[in-house]
Amino acid sequence: MKTIRLSIIGFGAVGQGVARSILSKNEYFNENGIDLIVVGISDSKGSEVDALGIDLENALNRKKQKGTVANGKESALEIIEHVEHDIVIEATPTNIDDGEPGLSNMLAAFNSGKHVVTSNKGPLALCFSELREAAEDNGVLFRYEATVGGAVPIFNLIHEALAGNRVIRIEGILNGTTNYILTRMTEEMLNYELVLKEAQELGIAEADPTYDVEGIDSACKLVIIANSIFKEDATYRDVDVTGITKITPEALELANKNNYVIKLICEAGNGSLIVAPRLVPKKHPLAVGGTLNVASILTDLAGRITIIGKGAGSIETASSILSDILYIARNS
Ligand SMILES: NC(=O)c1ccc[n+]([C@@H]2O[C@H](COP(=O)([O-])OP(=O)(O)OC[C@H]3O[C@@H](n4cnc5c(N)ncnc54)[C@H](OP(=O)(O)O)[C@@H]3O)[C@@H](O)[C@H]2O)c1
Repeated sequence: MKTIRLSIIGFGAVGQGVARSILSKNEYFNENGIDLIVVGISDSKGSEVDALGIDLENALNRKKQKGTVANGKESALEIIEHVEHDIVIEATPTNIDDGEPGLSNMLAAFNSGKHVVTSNKGPLALCFSELREAAEDNGVLFRYEATVGGAVPIFNLIHEALAGNRVIRIEGILNGTTNYILTRMTEEMLNYELVLKEAQELGIAEADPTYDVEGIDSACKLVIIANSIFKEDATYRDVDVTGITKITPEALELANKNNYVIKLICEAGNGSLIVAPRLVPKKHPLAVGGTLNVASILTDLAGRITIIGKGAGSIETASSILSDILYIARNS
């Protein structure tokens, strides 16, 4: 049995989703020769550390009842640097101003010889090359499937299943909130403000929706694609971004009459990175509705491959994180 020791840094929706998935799946992993144990968990108020393996059920209950997992004083950085383990799961909030605290957490993990699996876009949208080099210099792996498309396995598909292909172009819808707003505006012919309010009441949009509706979240994801797939050394500032706030019900109606929908499309290829509302034919594979995400990948050998799935959610995002953990377990 190969034992893989993990820390979970950030114990919100994603961190707890990872803990729940490990609880429900570890027996199955054991049957396949892998045992996952969590030796450190950290949230903004404190941490729990147990070298023999934290009781995850207990940690989840404590988080629910007390609002924090903390029963010890170690900081996230102390856990990363000083508690012996193999993989740091970095799931703290995305910050696209300076990438912190995720950036320091990831660099500390690499520099102390630990692999990183993350869902946190901020550090990758700002400092992808620095992070990749730090991982390479320390001989450890850096996996980030969950940063783009939630459950949709874009990087695994391209790097593993489509290995040998040259990717010519990638187009996609990578933000579920804006897709939901545009879908509802089209279906109900409602204006942007009304649908945004509805999305906020349903918990699909944040109280401050700027990050989603101005296209910033989509742009961060496109930068990660540009770096990972096209090796472009791009940062968030290289993306030409237009959001959805100026789209009117009249524009959607006119598109509808001509058998089109309007979607917030991310495009990477030929060195350009664009996020902008686009007219998409109703029967085109990119015309997915609701909160769904989609990525359409044009390659030289396989032609066009399109994948559709849930772009967010605690367990859905944990699916991508688990696949990265298992990749590391099998390849390290
Ligand atoms: N939710 C999704 O569906 C989804 C999908 C894909 C990617 N992501 C990305 O994944 C990351 C986590 O998302 P989430 O939805 O889980 O966010 P969240 O619910 O806000 O959780 C963030 C967690 O990080 C903790 N935290 C904040 N500052 C910290 C610090 N300095 N040290 C240690 N922990 C700290 C928070 O502590 P407290 O609990 O004490 O506040 C919280 O537990 C984000 O970068 C997000 O963009 C999320």
